[in-house]
Amino acid sequence: MCGIIGYIGNENASELVFKGLKRLEYRGYDSWGIAIKNGNEIFSKKCVGAIGDAEYTFPKSMVAIAHTRWATHGNVSEINAHPHFCCKKHIAVVHNGIIENYHELRKELEEKGHEFLSDTDTEVIAHLLEEFLEKGYNLEKALKETVKKLEGSYAILVIHKDDHAIYFAKKDSPLCIGIADHGFFVASDPVAFIDHTNNIIFLEDYEIGYVNTHPKIFDIHGKEKYRKPIKVDWKLEQAEKNGYEYYMEKEIFEQKETIIRAVSHEKEKIEKITKLIDNAFGVFFIGSGSSYYACLVSSYIFSKIAKKHVNVVDASEFGYYKHFLTPRTLIVAVSQSGETADVLDAVKKAKEKHAKILAITNVISSTLARISDYLLPMQAGPEICVVSTKTFTSQLALLTLLAYTLAGKYNEGKEKIIEAAKAIETILSPENKKSIEELAKKLKDKEHIFCLGRGVSYALALEAALKIKEVTYIHAEGFSGGFLKHGTIALIEKDTPCIVFAPKDETYKEIISNAQEVKARGAFVIGVSPENNKVFDYWIKVPNLKEATAIANIIPIQYLAYQIAKLKGYNPDRPRNLAKSVTVK
Ligand code: F6R
Repeated sequence: MCGIIGYIGNENASELVFKGLKRLEYRGYDSWGIAIKNGNEIFSKKCVGAIGDAEYTFPKSMVAIAHTRWATHGNVSEINAHPHFCCKKHIAVVHNGIIENYHELRKELEEKGHEFLSDTDTEVIAHLLEEFLEKGYNLEKALKETVKKLEGSYAILVIHKDDHAIYFAKKDSPLCIGIADHGFFVASDPVAFIDHTNNIIFLEDYEIGYVNTHPKIFDIHGKEKYRKPIKVDWKLEQAEKNGYEYYMEKEIFEQKETIIRAVSHEKEKIEKITKLIDNAFGVFFIGSGSSYYACLVSSYIFSKIAKKHVNVVDASEFGYYKHFLTPRTLIVAVSQSGETADVLDAVKKAKEKHAKILAITNVISSTLARISDYLLPMQAGPEICVVSTKTFTSQLALLTLLAYTLAGKYNEGKEKIIEAAKAIETILSPENKKSIEELAKKLKDKEHIFCLGRGVSYALALEAALKIKEVTYIHAEGFSGGFLKHGTIALIEKDTPCIVFAPKDETYKEIISNAQEVKARGAFVIGVSPENNKVFDYWIKVPNLKEATAIANIIPIQYLAYQIAKLKGYNPDRPRNLAKSVTVK
């Protein structure tokens, strides 16, 4: 969940690493720190809170590493912020991941006289390295012996006060090397250095090595590996705000293009993937958070359009289904980042059973993309805001197109999706934006918001509630219209806001009855519908897009959540406690 970056080269490492760290903030932002090789000493600085727009002047150097943290072990404090050091402060370490056996390792090291300063799991790495260096090993060998002792996940960067190099090791957390003409970067995500190079080596699990005047990569047994860099086609502008106040706003408005891009794959490619779904003996759609909801929405579309049953499982629960898996099972793993630990763990379990894996991801260099048998990129460009907006609708667009293609209706599916993308102009027209902004004012001080939907709109209600919770910190819950009266209706009282998704599909009559039920108990009913209804106290007008409804109908609620967050003075790009890639289980 954390972000790490290092640089070694002819330019000022402190400045490059600090700048790159700001772009990694989406991975965690409760504290940050930097270690700089300053002559034969290590200079360091740690701070609690997000880096934001902070500016610091650090000593000039050719070697530096840095870290932005999303706390796992140890509370948020300066002492627990990375980098961590060995007893003599000769070694500095930054780490993304979790060392599961750190208790035992720490005990062993303390018995040998090592003094620990922090409560983190990471600090054991610095002391283990020190222990091996004291045995006379060089840093490369010390790192190899250290990682042999670690259980869990890690992307590690290490510097030593007397060594002109950055050492690295990787297992189950992303790490890549950027090869620039003035030096080398090593970071969790290319976004950190994409303004310097797009020539990148994505490291594999159990690879360790160092960069000095060139990269050296070894396997765990010390055998050298020669890895060819690949070119990544992301551009810096895609990772910038381009005049918008927040990334969330930019990414909401980008959806009119990203939805179309999602379905711009060659027809043959979509047909080939569809055949996999058709021929599989059991299909499981898996994902986490919003990606899981995208799977859930799509399962209705598969059922309705393609007459195909697909199982949908929250990735973190998928392991318990492994008994059903066979080599003929197809897993459709949906993940924006392709680094979500729950998804990767599920995929690994499925692979043990020889099931086939189709990855739908936005990051084609991600671990998920690399370990899957088939890949369908979302092509949304980097999503920087911590909460998903454009990638959710890209997932929906792709899965919808697969369902249509499976029904032999590729062209019809594509047309509907393009129509949905075009409808965003109307949904977010100046008049509609104003109306949503007015609604945000009415809702900003509410304690609870409920969201209701049926059919494809059921999972949309779940996603709407998730968006509201994430950025406004208002308690929001999504329910199916039918489920409400089995208990939750007890929570409805005078003026409780209820967002009701009422598209003109087979759910319309019943969801309107559910709206009436909550209204009878005093609820303030907000209808998201192509048609006004007397039960609505507030109407969010959306076009009638039939089967492509779900893709467009979430957009006004994304914008509503964004507006409420702003009115409450919260930064929607950096919600508290969250991180973009959840790389821990
Ligand atoms: C919600 C959100 C998260 C992610 C979830 C899965 O706005 O961003 O719920 O959807 O953490 O992430 P990916 O899709 O990267 O696997």
